[in-house]
Amino acid sequence: MAMEVEVIGPGFAAEVKGLRLWEPLAADEVDRLRNLFAEHGVLVIRRQSLSEHEYADFCALFGALERTVRTDWASRVRPEISLITNLRGSNGNPLGGLGDGEVEWHSDQAYMANPATGAGLHAVEIPGDGGRTFWANLIAAYEALPERLKQAVEGKSALFRYQKRLDMYKDADRKLSEEGRKRTPDVLHPLVHTHPRTGKKALYLDPTTSIGIVGMPEAEGNALLGELAAHSVRPEFVYAHNWQVGDVVLWSNGFLLHRREPFPAADRRLMKRATMHLPAALHIIPDTLMLREAGA
Ligand code: OGA
Ligand code: MN
Repeated sequence: MAMEVEVIGPGFAAEVKGLRLWEPLAADEVDRLRNLFAEHGVLVIRRQSLSEHEYADFCALFGALERTVRTDWASRVRPEISLITNLRGSNGNPLGGLGDGEVEWHSDQAYMANPATGAGLHAVEIPGDGGRTFWANLIAAYEALPERLKQAVEGKSALFRYQKRLDMYKDADRKLSEEGRKRTPDVLHPLVHTHPRTGKKALYLDPTTSIGIVGMPEAEGNALLGELAAHSVRPEFVYAHNWQVGDVVLWSNGFLLHRREPFPAADRRLMKRATMHLPAALHIIPDTLMLREAGA
C-alpha cells in the first residue's frame, strides 16, 4: 500500500498510513517522511508493533538519537530509548518516568543548551481511561497574537532552569543524577524563532522550566510568559491524541508544547520514548545564548 497522508487535528498534525516500520523504507519514502515531519511538527503512524531496535532505528532516520539526562528512565535493551510508564519492577521501583499524573504543558529539553528537539512515543500499553497527549502549535499561536504581544516578545529571550520542572515531579522523578545536574546549567533561548522551511515565526515556550525574561523585572517577565502560554494552548491550536496500542507519534519541540492528562493509578501505561537531534535545515532548533552575552 502506498503512503497516504491525512492532516488531522486543527490542521497541523499529519497521520501517515500504509507504512510498515518493521521493514526497510525506500529512500524516497524516508525523504517524504522527513519533509512531512518538518512541515507538520506532529506525525502519527498507527498499527505498528516494533522492537526497541526497530523503533530506535526508525527514529534515527530523522536525527541522531540522544541519551537524555534521565538515565534512570533508560531501557536496558536500547539505552537511547526511555520508558515513560507508571509500571514498577518486582522490587517496587519505577521502570521509567512520569508515573500516572498530569504532565503539564511543556517543551522537552528547553532547559538544555542545544536542545534535542525531536521526540517519539511508541504506545505499548495504554490505560482504559485518560492518558491522552495534547500538542499545541506555537506557529498558529504566534500568528494569532495581538500586535501588542508580538512587539513584547520581539528580540526577547527567556531563562530556563530544569530544577523548576524537577520540583513539579513526584517521587523518584524529582531526583537527578550528579551527571544530569552537570548537563543542565541554566540556559537562555530566544522566545521567537523562524521555521527554516516555511519562513513562519513561532513562539518558543516551556512553562515548566522558564523562570524569567532577560532584561525584564522577574514578575513582569513571568507575567508575560504566563500570558503567552495561556494564549498558546487555546483549543483551536491543539491536537488531542487518543492512544491506541501500536501508535508511533513523532513531534518537534521547536514549535510545539505538549501535555498529558492523568490516568487511573491502577491502570497500566507503557510508552517507549526516543529523543533526536533534528537538523536545523528542516526544523526550528532554538538558539542557545550565553548568559553573559545576553547581559543576564
Ligand atoms: C514525553 C512526554 C507524555 C506522554 O515523553 O516527553 O511528555 O503522553 N510524554 O507520555
Ligand atoms: Mn514531554
